[in-house]
Amino acid sequence: MTLAKDISFTEADIVKLESEYATKRPQDILAFALKQFDNITISFSGAEDVVLIDMAAKIKRNITVFSIDTGRLHPETYQFIDRIRKQYRIKIDVISPDAAEVEALVKEKGLFSFYKDGHKECCAIRKVKPLRRKLATVDAWITGQRKDQNPATRASVPVIQLDTAFSSSDRNLIKFNPLANWTSAQVWKYIHANEVPFNQLHSKGFTSIGCEPCTRPVLPNQHERLGRWWWEEAADKECGFHEINVTPGNS
Ligand code: ADX
Ligand code: SF4
Repeated sequence: MTLAKDISFTEADIVKLESEYATKRPQDILAFALKQFDNITISFSGAEDVVLIDMAAKIKRNITVFSIDTGRLHPETYQFIDRIRKQYRIKIDVISPDAAEVEALVKEKGLFSFYKDGHKECCAIRKVKPLRRKLATVDAWITGQRKDQNPATRASVPVIQLDTAFSSSDRNLIKFNPLANWTSAQVWKYIHANEVPFNQLHSKGFTSIGCEPCTRPVLPNQHERLGRWWWEEAADKECGFHEINVTPGNS
């Protein structure tokens, strides 16, 4: 299927593209996304999704990358984000939450309300609202989500989708998940084969990396997401970033 650059994609286009690209390599999906959209950005969590930056930098100059800085990341993650900025000579848009909203939450409930009330309230303020602000400025975004990250919520993540969670009535937002069909082992094979730098937390038993108070290391054979929000059920281990995975009716 060939599309003219910058056309607005309909739902039917997305369905066709998804079936065409579902079996392609992440690099091919990325190349298509970067060619098709000028106003597109990569969402970088500061973890093994760095492979997207490495692949994209080999396809195109001046890729745009953003990272939501919740204010609660590990020191290693801040160091890693800055290392990637320098090594790939890219500007990373590091986005903060609204200060007044964070202050109001902390004043009302303290700094660790998520252990008692669940993570959704804090994630909404520190992650999802700044994400919504960022996504309102782009036509498409690229994420490092993989099916194998969470069988409860990500088993059917497509490589291309209409992001109904962050689209608005007058504009469709397209979401690319080029690594959807890759396993963790494939990601790590790529990192080692291409000498891609990685977050030092990965050498300390952390597999999936989020905020410091909500992430802990896992044992070698435990599932990677056991260390995220470990006091909650697997189906709740989404922060709203990928709302479309858990909203009934969305695919
Ligand atoms: S989360 O929703 O549980 O936090 P996860 O850590 O699995 O997400 O990461 C999946 C993808 O979501 C990442 O590859 C990245 O594209 C995006 N993502 C997660 N956290 C951030 C963040 N803080 N900033 C930017 N992108 C992020
Ligand atoms: Fe808050 Fe934890 Fe969510 Fe980070 S992961 S935004 S600290 S609840």
